[in-house]
Amino acid sequence: MNADSLRARPVEALTEEEAAEELAALAREIAHHDHAYYVLDAPEITDAEYDALVRRNAAIEARFPELVREDSPSRRPGGEPAEQFGKVRHGVPMLSLDNVFNAADFEDFCARIRRFLGLPADERLCFVAEPKIDGLSVNLVYEEGRFVRGATRGDGTEGEDVTANLRTLRDLPQRMKGSGHPARIEIRGEVFMEKAEFLAFNAQQAERVAAGAKGVRVFANPRNAAAGSLRQLDPRITAQRPLKFFAYGMGAASERPAETHWSYLERLRDWGFPVNPLSRRIEDEREAEAFQREMADRRASLPYDIDGVVYKLDRLDWQDRLGFVGRAPRWAIAWKFPAEQATTKLLRIEIQVGRTGALTPRAVMEPVNVGGVIVQHASLHNEDEIARKDVRVGDTVILQRAGDVIPQIVGVVLEKRPKDAKPFVFPDRCPACGSHAVRPEGEVVRRCTGGLTCPAQAVERLIHFCSRNAMDIEGLGAENIQKLYDEGLVRSPADIFRLARHADRMRSWEGWGAKTKKGAEAKKVANLLAAIEARRRVPLERFIFALGIRRIGEANAKLLARHYHSFANWRARMIEATQKESEAREELEGIQGIGPAIAAELEAFFSEPRNLEALDDLAREVTPEDAPAYGDGDSPVAGKTIVFTGTLETMTRDEAEHLAERLGAKVTKSVSKRTDFVVVGADAGSKAKKAAELGVRTLSEEEWRKMAGLA
Ligand code: IVH
Repeated sequence: MNADSLRARPVEALTEEEAAEELAALAREIAHHDHAYYVLDAPEITDAEYDALVRRNAAIEARFPELVREDSPSRRPGGEPAEQFGKVRHGVPMLSLDNVFNAADFEDFCARIRRFLGLPADERLCFVAEPKIDGLSVNLVYEEGRFVRGATRGDGTEGEDVTANLRTLRDLPQRMKGSGHPARIEIRGEVFMEKAEFLAFNAQQAERVAAGAKGVRVFANPRNAAAGSLRQLDPRITAQRPLKFFAYGMGAASERPAETHWSYLERLRDWGFPVNPLSRRIEDEREAEAFQREMADRRASLPYDIDGVVYKLDRLDWQDRLGFVGRAPRWAIAWKFPAEQATTKLLRIEIQVGRTGALTPRAVMEPVNVGGVIVQHASLHNEDEIARKDVRVGDTVILQRAGDVIPQIVGVVLEKRPKDAKPFVFPDRCPACGSHAVRPEGEVVRRCTGGLTCPAQAVERLIHFCSRNAMDIEGLGAENIQKLYDEGLVRSPADIFRLARHADRMRSWEGWGAKTKKGAEAKKVANLLAAIEARRRVPLERFIFALGIRRIGEANAKLLARHYHSFANWRARMIEATQKESEAREELEGIQGIGPAIAAELEAFFSEPRNLEALDDLAREVTPEDAPAYGDGDSPVAGKTIVFTGTLETMTRDEAEHLAERLGAKVTKSVSKRTDFVVVGADAGSKAKKAAELGVRTLSEEEWRKMAGLA
């Protein structure tokens, strides 16, 4: 919940618990964006933002290698095949291309080739130039001239099996024409949608959306439309989409059909594959610049979007010698066109509330064509960004789109500014719920403080509230919470504890016990209600953590619970602490591990009357149990740091950890020099080994029970 706040901190400053918490959040978040990008073809963040998440994950893992999760994004390359489709391993990996943006960089690329091959400086290089269409690449396997399998690129090594969908493309021969087919060959090329077809298709989609059709979406650009169309589960839908194909490459082949890339393209044509007629053999690298200019001029009138030209060294034997570096070949390069710009009028600035309460401004503009794509929305990122660019409603703004990246407002045409245009005033209330929206010192994002009640955040908050480390209500996962929310039965945490009165209604839902004789389903509602009842009493720290207050992760919740001991005391002191100069505030900020930034978040939460209402409502349903204090008691484990590993016979891990904490110990998840004891149960793994390496004392279960006063 408070992953964003953690993320603002340097990795070196994270405690182990915070690191574990953030890794969990990153795994969830990156998986979400992978799904949005690869499966839905509707990315929500820019590539740069995505890369930042992946880097952050890697940096934390580098510092805490023992915390690397089973489901860590680092264990799985991007572009994972969608689950619905079978996976196909490409015979030879499908690579990507390095980019250049100007003639000087292109010359460097040529010089590198010459150096690598040991060619003299005056040796001319012959290339094949191909327009770079912005679609998606596919790998087609032909055996004895028959199309047998087709796959998307996926992560480059493994893609999704979309054979049935590819068979619906009229451009793509089911059987090769002509003769001389290798026994087996992988043919590669681009699947794409033409601009006019895209606009017509998208308009049709928009109409269906307006008519309330479910599961229908409008696409941001032809690339996404092509990808979405190829990834349909029903090939009949793909068949209705205006997809086209150009062949341009080769993967694994039982025999090589040509000596040069150009003659390979000719063979592809003979075999019945569409090859882009604009592709051209360039006898001398110095012709590349002229070709580049020619294509840039023709770009707008081409029926499809291109974002540059691909130059491939013609001689295949040289290609072989050059090989690859990283994920890109040394023998080919994409020479990209500069980003495309257009101007349009800014109609208004909308404020959207994200699932974590972040308020993000979005520009709504008069629709404009930017390089073949109609754009009418752009993110303005945050409050400072609007001020920095001084973007005002009524302004004529300059929009830029680079490749398939989301359009950006890069500036304002000041000469066209209307006289009465006023600087934008960022709202200090949440547009979704009316709660205060605050911006903590030193941060750029303004956030809604009405987390418990704000409809924009409700589902996410409720999911957190019920999750395993929070209230741990079994059976209340994301899907069921969404259902209960949509049905209007649960709007705030307290509602969960009043579900019993809606039991009959819940039982009438499909899969919840309706019209079924299956025991499991019939019991679903009863089990759920029992799980809820079992959580009417919870440790105070879990209760605090479950509230999902920013920056209050498990570790901080525990600190607060230990310090304030009871719910009533904590609540009262937090309200007092909302006054900046108060003694209560001083006390709060003085707690080891809390400090001013966290205190500010608690202030934001407790200053919002809606939160207090929801909190008190909840406290009427749930009783938070008083917390033990650190180090009180005279147990031998008081004040010690303990790690439990392996399976204990006489108690669960959870029970053991709670017992240790009640006796005043600090429980951590991994072994370090600061650990006092490692309690080793059955089948203990790396932690026991680490303890031995570091010379940390290990205890058997029996010894632990003695120390805890149980034996
Ligand atoms: S060749 C090893 N040729 O660009 C060579 N790619 O950045 C790899 N693309 O994934 C690809 N037109 O989707 C090649 N004539 C062309 C292309 C082309 C478009 C796309 C393709 C690829 C990406 C590489």
